[in-house]
Amino acid sequence: MKIKFQPYGVIAEAEAGQTVLQAANAAGVDIEAVCGGRGTCGKCRIIAAQGLGPLTEAERRRLSPEEIAQGYRLACQALIEGDVAVVVPEESRISEVSILSTGIGDSVSLDPWLATYAVQVPEATIEDQVADMDNLVRTLAAAGAPALRPTLTAARQLPAALRADEGRVTIVAQGQRMVRIVPASTGVRVLGMAYDIGTTTVVGYLMDLQTGEQLAVASLLNPQTRYGDDVVSRIGFSRDDPQGLDTLHHDIIQAMNTIIERVTHQAKVTPADVYAVVAVGNTTMHHLLWGIDPEALARSPYVPAVTEALGVRATELGLRVYPEAEVWTLPNIAGWVGADTTGVLLATRLHTHEEPALAIDIGTNGEMALGSRERLITCSTAAGPAFEGAHLSCGMRAADGAIDVVTINHRVEYHVIGDVPARGVCGSGLVDLVAGMLQSGVIDSTGMMRDAEALRNGNGSELADRVVGEGRQRQFMLVDPESGAGGRPVLVTQRDVRELQLAKGAIRAGIQILLKELGITAADVKRVYLAGAFGNYIRPTSALAIGLIPEFPNADILPVGNAAGSGAKMALLSRAALREASAILEHVEYLELSGRPDFQEEFAEAMIFGASG
Ligand code: FES
Repeated sequence: MKIKFQPYGVIAEAEAGQTVLQAANAAGVDIEAVCGGRGTCGKCRIIAAQGLGPLTEAERRRLSPEEIAQGYRLACQALIEGDVAVVVPEESRISEVSILSTGIGDSVSLDPWLATYAVQVPEATIEDQVADMDNLVRTLAAAGAPALRPTLTAARQLPAALRADEGRVTIVAQGQRMVRIVPASTGVRVLGMAYDIGTTTVVGYLMDLQTGEQLAVASLLNPQTRYGDDVVSRIGFSRDDPQGLDTLHHDIIQAMNTIIERVTHQAKVTPADVYAVVAVGNTTMHHLLWGIDPEALARSPYVPAVTEALGVRATELGLRVYPEAEVWTLPNIAGWVGADTTGVLLATRLHTHEEPALAIDIGTNGEMALGSRERLITCSTAAGPAFEGAHLSCGMRAADGAIDVVTINHRVEYHVIGDVPARGVCGSGLVDLVAGMLQSGVIDSTGMMRDAEALRNGNGSELADRVVGEGRQRQFMLVDPESGAGGRPVLVTQRDVRELQLAKGAIRAGIQILLKELGITAADVKRVYLAGAFGNYIRPTSALAIGLIPEFPNADILPVGNAAGSGAKMALLSRAALREASAILEHVEYLELSGRPDFQEEFAEAMIFGASG
């Protein structure tokens, strides 16, 4: 059976009984699938006139009668019955997100794992028939180099290298291992890759391990996104599909290879110059990178398969760098606090602070750490999807068409990424919007949207015109149909406000419990680091206004960009930093919020919108 995907013009073979989403994934056509194909998010809309099986219950629930009349279907539900032409509308296409690739300082003293030695090896003679390798080892010892063991790769390179330039060779060593031998005239670049593997995005940095300089950076949407926006969907896919784990593992390796190609091309070097790779990611991404089953992470007691820093050869993973290159991941802290948090801790050095400091990394999940060198505690909250734009009717990632800034001051003003018609709202825009709705009285502190009548009687008549619908169906029209992409308005529903409220409540409750556990108050905290894409772009005033974070009267609030990526770069440039990452693991405590009897109480209180809520 043939399936054609428009507007891409891709024609693929499909089997009867496959869903359109499965056929799209096999054909490399990206369709948004926020819920991982469970029929609950309604984001995988496609349009098809014929060739598909009957509408399912899930489709009837998620699509309006008008949409059904126009031929809209859900790609994850619609079964292929015959040749079919499918249109993937704009809103269902996965667009490149704005990816945060900058971070804080990365200040480490250069102490990489790789060293180079240049020596001149004397020629063997008939009187001294020394073997090439013995000759090299002898020369290195005489030059004061540490004792090195050859790898098979290096042994294979030695004879030709030795005779190409009158015995002048350069050796690249990884610890005690000789990994490469080249004629001195060839010259070597010693490079490394640091990765931040996020649930949504993958960022890779090409670093010069001899100078510490960052040569290039590239990023991609995590290709696993097609199997769901959050880690729970990915774990579900890995469990339910016999090929699931392999597919997810392969996807991430593929993305890392694509990034290697891009950055080495940008920097005009070759992938074979990359001798070391360090990656961070949440625990699920970490497991999927190594091809380790993440299933246990999703079930109580939520234990990871491994916590320690792992190191293996790149070839074992299929990474296209120098074959002897080693790949490391920073250690995980717990099932829901991964190597990315270790990276944040390494970059913010929270474990060395004299006075209490807080780091919050809000990506698809929300992890936080509070403390100092005395005591440091981390926890994780199920907060992310609302801030990343998923699971909201108006939500989207921070890509072109997303509203990222909103101000409401009697009038509504907003900024759209890419200066194109608005398609939805991303996390930072949503926090601004809800802060504005709260301050202008459109919602009250319980999150309830006021009706137009009540607003008109107050001072919000302009705003009142934007409120449509009744009760739970009430909506706030942020963008009218004339200004929205495809003539569609951007509507923020009462349910969207509730979703944000749940996410904000979870994060705020996490902070409150960490403060309580350490026996301090917000006034004792001297520094707050906001990490991750969302943390970096969110306006602290809006975060305070809705009560996402409490007032910290004595703290500097610092957006620190991609601190997890900075931690990976530090560990790549410095063996001491990699060791420190393991030491952090010893120092940091993990608090399981679901095991705290007071969590529900704190959560209920933290749901209240407002500076004190
Ligand atoms: Fe199809 Fe969510 S409804 S992927």
